[in-house]
Amino acid sequence: MREGAALGFEANGGGASPAPPPQAPLVERLKDYGQEDVFAMWDELSPDHRDLLVKDIESLDLPRIDRIIRCSLRSQVLPSPAIEPVPESCVSTVEERTLGERERWWKMGLKAISDGKLAVLLLSGGQGTRLGSQDPKGCFNIGLPSGKSLFQLQAERILCVQRLAAQSVNEGSGGFVPIHWYIMTSPFTDEATRKFFESHKYFGLEVDQVTFFQQGTIPCISKDGRFIMEKPYKVAKAPDGNGGVYSALKTSKLLEDMAMRGVRYVDCYGVDNALVRVADPTFLGYFIEKGVTAAAKVVRKAYPQERVGVFVRCGKGGPLSVVEYSELDATMSTAINQETGRLRYCWSNVCLHMFTLDFLNQVANGLEKDSIYHLAEKKIPSIHGDTAGLKLEQFVFDAFTYAPSTALFEVLREEEFAPVKNANGANVDTPDSARLLVLRLHTRWVVAAGGFLTHSVPLYATGIAEMW
Ligand code: UD1
Repeated sequence: MREGAALGFEANGGGASPAPPPQAPLVERLKDYGQEDVFAMWDELSPDHRDLLVKDIESLDLPRIDRIIRCSLRSQVLPSPAIEPVPESCVSTVEERTLGERERWWKMGLKAISDGKLAVLLLSGGQGTRLGSQDPKGCFNIGLPSGKSLFQLQAERILCVQRLAAQSVNEGSGGFVPIHWYIMTSPFTDEATRKFFESHKYFGLEVDQVTFFQQGTIPCISKDGRFIMEKPYKVAKAPDGNGGVYSALKTSKLLEDMAMRGVRYVDCYGVDNALVRVADPTFLGYFIEKGVTAAAKVVRKAYPQERVGVFVRCGKGGPLSVVEYSELDATMSTAINQETGRLRYCWSNVCLHMFTLDFLNQVANGLEKDSIYHLAEKKIPSIHGDTAGLKLEQFVFDAFTYAPSTALFEVLREEEFAPVKNANGANVDTPDSARLLVLRLHTRWVVAAGGFLTHSVPLYATGIAEMW
């Protein structure tokens, strides 16, 4: 059997007439970048598929992609920059916060929200492969008694904060100040996300307070930097990482849109945390009072192998940065601070950041010039089945290195971090474990408010007890 037939695509009508060669200038351009193999199956393709292949190649910014591939592959052999732990004194810890500060920040945050200065930015372009669901992660129902999806939980928290903000300036008026919600999707999640919002009537939000926009994609490559073919007429592509948000905001002209609305601060977060405290007035008030350009919520790392990025300093007194769990070596992840007995690299990124709009503008104009992307080894669906290859990604926290001033704000994981990463059955970070964390927190609230529960909530999900 010919290879084309084996791969199940429409071949070139039995070989009656030889296929015209692909356009010479395009082939020459591809040769310049060592990517001419994308035409390897040209002779096997139907005319329609040849058109698709040419369009697919023409849609790629080849010089930019080539620069990114070369810089990113080269960066792997460079020595890693010296990093240091973030000292406890650089973090606003839960322990050190006074009631007075919390109240002050809460009021400042609500005031800024009621003035329309806060926008919320959701990163929702990931493919959620670990969760094993075809739908965007935000559509996922983690099995709460209410059956609410992650999107709905977040929408209702936004509704609640805007109501509180309105009440804070005009006690009892019941009106609300809309918080604008920017939702980044990718070609893999866009249509399904929009439909989900429409079919759920935007969960009670105003339709025009939600803006969807798409992040970019970038070809998946083999270890020697060649494009992987998803189909004989299509290059395999993947979203360019959640750090693609900066260029996507720029190309969609949404930074201007934010400025026009009077937004000054942007709360940017990942979709897959069932306890995410989105548009948190206390965090916003802290951020404003500190006067920094970028801040992040952190929790203490639970155990050395936990799959979280950790905040570090680049060199002594250098800028803040995050080392992603996939790039953290075992010596670093298990290192203990002899004075405290705690993990040396303990400040975990929960993927909830606050930025000033001014800083977002600077990053959107500057980060793209930095062509070093992170390389993630992944199984890429290809014409040869699932192939070991590399995805190129920018990370949202890469921006911290460029921030003139930064701050870290510790929160309690039992109050604000219930990651939904893996399908049920895995040891950690599953819908089941996230549901239990939500139920346990809500139970505590009910009890604190003088109520009681008719059903008890188990203390741990299977697997979590052993890890904590
Ligand atoms: C992420 C953080 C990690 C943190 C952990 C906490 C990054 C790069 N990593 O890891 O440091 O400790 O969450 O749970 O932020 N996304 C996009 N576009 C993409 C890829 C991802 O929008 O191209 C979104 C996802 O939809 C999700 C968020 O970014 O909302 C986090 O992405 P994911 O790949 O799940 O990150 P983790 O590996 O869990």
